[in-house]
Amino acid sequence: MAGLDLTHRPRRLRRAEWSRRLVRETVLTANDLIWPIFVIEGQGQREPIGSMPMVHRLSVDEAVRAAVRARDLGIPALALFPNTDPTLRDEKGAEAFNENNLVCRAVRAIRKEVPEIGVMTDVALDPYTSHGHDGLMRGDEILNDETVEALIRQALNQARAGCDIVAPSDMMDGRIGAIRAALDKEGFEQVQIMAYAAKYASAFYGPFREAVGSGGLLRGDKRTYQMDPANSDEALREVALDLEQGADMVMVKPGLPYLDICRRVKDEFGAPTFAYQVSGEYAMIMAAVERGWLDHEKAMVESLVAFKRAGCDGVLTYFAPFVAEKLARQA
Ligand code: PBG
Repeated sequence: MAGLDLTHRPRRLRRAEWSRRLVRETVLTANDLIWPIFVIEGQGQREPIGSMPMVHRLSVDEAVRAAVRARDLGIPALALFPNTDPTLRDEKGAEAFNENNLVCRAVRAIRKEVPEIGVMTDVALDPYTSHGHDGLMRGDEILNDETVEALIRQALNQARAGCDIVAPSDMMDGRIGAIRAALDKEGFEQVQIMAYAAKYASAFYGPFREAVGSGGLLRGDKRTYQMDPANSDEALREVALDLEQGADMVMVKPGLPYLDICRRVKDEFGAPTFAYQVSGEYAMIMAAVERGWLDHEKAMVESLVAFKRAGCDGVLTYFAPFVAEKLARQA
């Protein structure tokens, strides 16, 4: 046809499945997944979460079963989030330092029954505070340095329980270096740190706050410590600081709306880079799936491949067991 330049026919490579497989640039495998799990008190409990279809809050024994499932599916690590009894929440988040708190008991149980799996715990006070904030407060102010002292105690408590990775999600200044030093001093030099390095003050955490029971409590918002969604250069400065202070891995959060940040972080630092496909992202996809507007498997896989394409080494995602099952079926 006149006027068409067909020196190149890019569609040639897309004609057959074998050819598409041959030129595929990124692959998603179970090795890329970290599975976040919500933990509650009790035995044999699997409590559905309204805004997160197919996700449950699990009692410790059920969390152990989830860990077995994860191991069998080849998922390398779990991230644990406790839903703390409201009567144990106070202004200072004291329950965070209790060596027998829910998350510590979950860590010990999983460690014992499923030693092959990596266990990550969140370092931030929000599951424990009566005001729902990640830090200590004076009036309306979230105190930085006092909070870092508390986070150190919380991280040490989790390390003593046997966690493999501590993940500070609080966005206080200087906490990575302080936690690293404290861990080393107590002989936990092998405990890894995954820094929530570029964590944004996002609307997409809503379902998570329902899951851990902090949503109704939250006084105000988190914009004095979590980042402004409008900023990108600032994310690089945050990541640089966390890496300088000894973070082993860095995370961008939320995920899909921040893929540009993932790419910049990976290109700039070349460090192990993760994204958190957060609760609201999961809820959006699942809400559409429930209405029959999106195909569950296709939407799930496409959303996760996007992270690999953007340069991430892995993803924290509530889809972890479902996508790992799908990948296992294919293999
Ligand atoms: C707590 C924390 C949050 C998430 C992970 N750790 C919520 C928040 O900062 O309010 C969100 C995860 C999700 O939405 O899936 N510091």
